[in-house]
Amino acid sequence: MLKRDDAGHGRKTGSTTGAGAPAPSDRNSLTIGPDGPILLHDVHFLEQMAHFNREKVIERQPHAKGSGAFGVFETTEDVSAWTKAALFQKGVKTDMLARFSTVAGEQGSPDTWRDVRGFSLKFYTSEGNYDLVGNNTPIFFVRDPMKFPHFIRSQKRLPDSGLRDNHMQWDFWTNNPESAHQVTYLMGPRGLPRTWRHMNGYGSHTYMWVNAKGERFWVKYHFHTDQGMEFFTNEEAKAMAGSDSDYHRRDLFEAIERGEHPSWTLSVQVMPFEEAKTYRFNPFDLTKVWPHADYPLHRVGRMTLNRNPSNFHAEIEQAAFSPGNIVPGIGLSPDKMLLGRAFAYNDAQRNRIGANFHQLPVNQPKVPVQSYMFDGPMAYHHSGNAPVYAPNSGGRSWADETGPVDDGWEADGEMVRSAYTLRADDDDFSQPGTLVREVFSEKDREALVDQVAGSLLGGVREPVLGRAFQYWKNIDPEIGRRIEEKVRASTAPEPAEGMGDAGMHA
Ligand code: HEM
Repeated sequence: MLKRDDAGHGRKTGSTTGAGAPAPSDRNSLTIGPDGPILLHDVHFLEQMAHFNREKVIERQPHAKGSGAFGVFETTEDVSAWTKAALFQKGVKTDMLARFSTVAGEQGSPDTWRDVRGFSLKFYTSEGNYDLVGNNTPIFFVRDPMKFPHFIRSQKRLPDSGLRDNHMQWDFWTNNPESAHQVTYLMGPRGLPRTWRHMNGYGSHTYMWVNAKGERFWVKYHFHTDQGMEFFTNEEAKAMAGSDSDYHRRDLFEAIERGEHPSWTLSVQVMPFEEAKTYRFNPFDLTKVWPHADYPLHRVGRMTLNRNPSNFHAEIEQAAFSPGNIVPGIGLSPDKMLLGRAFAYNDAQRNRIGANFHQLPVNQPKVPVQSYMFDGPMAYHHSGNAPVYAPNSGGRSWADETGPVDDGWEADGEMVRSAYTLRADDDDFSQPGTLVREVFSEKDREALVDQVAGSLLGGVREPVLGRAFQYWKNIDPEIGRRIEEKVRASTAPEPAEGMGDAGMHA
């Protein structure tokens, strides 16, 4: 890392040019006489102007607004029967980074808008970096990665006005009924976390664990907040969005500065490998949770965040998480979403940060890297004159495994473009129905009806409106009826914020 001599800090001289020579002035450009034109050979001035024009990187496509902190994960239980991963062996402590985010908002958007929150973790393990890039919800809106860009665009902004649009959001959701579970979760009481410290995190997908004997298991990760879950009401969140749009970022940073180090307890649900083949619904479907009665939680360890970034740009903005970053003892699964994600992230980062993003300190593994990726823009690490091809006779090691892949699974069949094969209990509405009826309280249901009706009144027009009523009736007939009644009873719907066009409403 470039280390500057701080000795001159606060003095009137002492800064340097990028080349390290004393900077002539940080206040005055070089001119002909005090009132004269600026000279082209004022290289220091030109360097300042030019670099300023290049000091932003592209923001993340989804999850642009966020922040995070460093910490440690400690495995407190013996889970070696299920995984040989070094970081999950009892007593092992692993340095880590967490980043929390909203999904749809851009940099600068309010932290407290109703949205899913990102829950990204990077573990700097003794076997390379392991990233778990999850959310604060155990499920997701779609189950085929082909739909993901369409989903994100529908949650972002209209092509003409550049405004966000409820109609577009509900159009997407009601055209994709597999979104019902996640939408119910989002519109319900957990849709507005009070702080990042007070929300749970989930790996959401089903992942594989492999033990030292080569036995495979399917797992789901649950990070339960040790601070207790707390949520904002709509009114509180709205007021906070206006008074402090960086509330969640500030809360985490200030808590850690005060020495209050938030922690989360990790537990996993474990499904024996063979059981996945016959379970009553597809256990790799990201729109479903595994009932705890079938697969109880097993505690693994605790993560504690104890150090703030010392530089937001270097350590948060340029942090690169990817579900494709796995380590021995951990694998992916046949979840199509997860397999699509395995490619998407590093590709986004090559575009967003640069081809050598993995060389930046925050992304560097804490183990020696011996990769066959060379050169490119801003290449910093190199291997001198060692051979650049494999296999080679020059003493540079290479990977030549031809044996079985221990984190794989069997696959067979014709090539098709198709939804997953349906099993007995595979439907889109049972789990959200159970959430509404058995998990939400009556107060939660009232708030849900208010929230959904308010959202539909914010510019949603036919035929999407009618589809939305049916969508909720499919989730729960009573809730659907209450939502429709509330919307229909409103004779003069308010225009969507900023749309300024009453004609847009049905
Ligand atoms: C096929 C589906 C998906 C695709 C193609 C996709 C793609 C992306 C991309 C390109 C980014 C920006 C990465 C960057 O610039 O560094 C991102 C960020 C993120 N995604 Fe996804 N995503 C998908 C589904 C999901 C799901 C299901 C979850 C959670 C379970 C999720 C959680 C996140 C989080 C937390 C971030 C922020 C990462 C950070 O903190 O830097 N995504 N996603």
